[in-house]
Amino acid sequence: MPLHVVDHPLIVHKLAILRDKATSVKKFREVVNEITLLLAYEATCSLPMDEVEIETPLCRTRTRMLKPGEVVVAPILRAGLGMMPGMLDILPMARVAHIGLRRDEHTHLPVTYYMNMPTSLNGANVLVVDPMLATAGSMCAAIDLLKNAQPASITAICLIASPEGEQRMNKSHPDVSIYVGAMDERLNEKAYIVPGLGDAGDRMFGTA
Ligand code: PRP
Ligand code: URA
Repeated sequence: MPLHVVDHPLIVHKLAILRDKATSVKKFREVVNEITLLLAYEATCSLPMDEVEIETPLCRTRTRMLKPGEVVVAPILRAGLGMMPGMLDILPMARVAHIGLRRDEHTHLPVTYYMNMPTSLNGANVLVVDPMLATAGSMCAAIDLLKNAQPASITAICLIASPEGEQRMNKSHPDVSIYVGAMDERLNEKAYIVPGLGDAGDRMFGTA
């Protein structure tokens, strides 16, 4: 499935604030939240809906509402947690699958340290959130874990991606839709996205 770059002036503007190394932790969190709302709006365009009948002040009418209980948001810890307030604001009914992964500093390979998923993902539409799609090792590992539980669909939402990450996703998980705010130039020798925004977790939680 194609990777969608949500190329919108609001997102480009807000990403510029995140990219600026002078941006405070407080501001960084606020802007991550704002961009998440904008990306989530696009990424949820195919969620399944049910026909419902309701009564307006004027008459009975048929319309559609999201299918209850079918949306699961899966943040990749730590940095994905910064996208959760925005995700749960627009999807307050969503269940949450926490996936703890950290990239080994030397090998750049993901190490799983925590998993807490709803008992069943059967039929669920899962939205995986992580600010950075660099080598895509973390995203692929998270999707491998989620696919074991056989959800109906998986969609990835990231703030910034690299061409290398896109290639890896196309190869390993061509069935997963990806929505990103920007496609950057490349990875550097430490597998950081350039120009990027640095270490998303450190900037979000003030641990640099
Ligand atoms: C960052 C980021 C992604 C991962 C991306 O997390 O939030 O999870 O790196 O890199 P990849 O695409 O090459 O796997 P990190 O491992 O630094 O952990 P943190 O969120 O706890 O800081
Ligand atoms: N993880 C980050 O937080 N930033 C990058 O640029 C790459 C991986």
